[in-house]
Amino acid sequence: MFSVILAVDNKGGIGKNNELPWYNKEDLRHFKKKTIGQVIIMGRRTWESLPVRPLPNRVNVVLSTTTKELDGALVCTSLANCIRTIEPDHKDKEWFIIGGGKVLKQVLKMRPIIKNIYLTKVDSDYKCDVQVDLSIIQHFKGVSFPKIDEKLNQYEPYTWSYREYYF
Ligand SMILES: NC(=O)c1ccc[n+]([C@@H]2O[C@H](COP(=O)([O-])OP(=O)(O)OC[C@H]3O[C@@H](n4cnc5c(N)ncnc54)[C@H](OP(=O)(O)O)[C@@H]3O)[C@@H](O)[C@H]2O)c1
Repeated sequence: MFSVILAVDNKGGIGKNNELPWYNKEDLRHFKKKTIGQVIIMGRRTWESLPVRPLPNRVNVVLSTTTKELDGALVCTSLANCIRTIEPDHKDKEWFIIGGGKVLKQVLKMRPIIKNIYLTKVDSDYKCDVQVDLSIIQHFKGVSFPKIDEKLNQYEPYTWSYREYYF
C-alpha cells in the first residue's frame, strides 16, 4: 500500500516548467517531517527537478523506462517492479508517492493501493502546466486536519490548508 503526498493549487496544478510553482517553507517542512526515514517514489522528471539529489535520509526510488542507474536512488521500470524492489528491505516503512503528474495520474486511479493522501492546498491559481485529478478523494472514509504551523509564508501569501485522507 502506498501513501500519496502532494500540494495542489485551486485548479489542481502541481508543477510549472518542471519545478514547484511556489516556495512555501512550511509545506517543505511538512513534507520532510512526513517522509523522513521512509521510502519516497517519484517520476524521473521529478527526480531531475530536485534541488538536492537524493533527498537525504529517505530511500529514494525513481520510476523510469529510459534511465538504468542513478547515484543515490533505486530505479524501477514500473510500479509493480517498484513494489518487488522495496518490499524485501523496506516493508516496515511508509511508501510515499511524491509525484509528479505522470505518476500521480496513474496512482490516483488505483484506490485500493492507496491508504493515505496527505494533501496541501493553496487557494490560488499558479497557471501550472501539470495538473492532477483528485476526484478519488471522495472514496476515502475519513479526513483529518493536522496541526501545522500555518504562519503566512513571506513568499507565497495565500491561504494554505492541510488535510489527511485515510481509508
Ligand atoms: N506539487 C507537488 O506536490 C509536486 C510533487 C512532485 C512533483 N511536482 C511537479 O511535477 C512536475 C513533474 O511531473 P511530470 O508529470 O512532468 O513528470 P513525473 O511524473 O515526475 O515523471 C515522468 C516520468 O516518470 C517515468 N514514469 C512515470 N510513470 C512510470 C511508470 N509507471 N513506470 C516507469 N516509469 C514511469 C517516465 O520516465 P521515462 O521517460 O524515463 O520513462 C516519465 O517520463 C514538476 O513540475 C514537479 O515540480 C509537484
